[in-house]
Amino acid sequence: MIGKLIYCSVELERKVASLYQELASLAESGEQFASLLLKQIGLESMVHSEVLRSLGVSLGLYEETGECQTLIGDVWSRVEEAYSKIKQPGKADVRGVLKELVSLEGFVGEETYHRLLLPLLEKVLQDRDSLRLAKLVLEKIIQDEGFHEKAVNSILKY
Ligand SMILES: [Fe+2]
Ligand SMILES: [Fe+2]
Repeated sequence: MIGKLIYCSVELERKVASLYQELASLAESGEQFASLLLKQIGLESMVHSEVLRSLGVSLGLYEETGECQTLIGDVWSRVEEAYSKIKQPGKADVRGVLKELVSLEGFVGEETYHRLLLPLLEKVLQDRDSLRLAKLVLEKIIQDEGFHEKAVNSILKY
């Protein structure tokens, strides 16, 4: 279960990263700082994806699956929907997608990582020092999600 969850988190972060990249390029004209911030969040999401993959692989807990929709639920389809919305030529609803992302960011940090992944990690990692470091890795990501939520909110208020 945890291997699949890690795999799905990696894939989710990858989707989120390309979503932000897309948003950053759409915002480029006249909204340079919004665009810069979106680019920053996109790059951080890419880092999350890479770090989670490395974590999973090094623990021997990285299992590809086609069940991400079931495993991480609503968030998965919401990200896919947001992505297809933003890809619609000429009528991309940037504001709508940003609003959606505010709640997604908060949810992924709190529910997917904090309530789901962290306890599973505590279960499988017997060695206390390894667990301590692995938790730091995850806590940094959770902290970033909090920042993402706040940052996207600020862009919306701009
Ligand atoms: Fe992330
Ligand atoms: Fe995020």
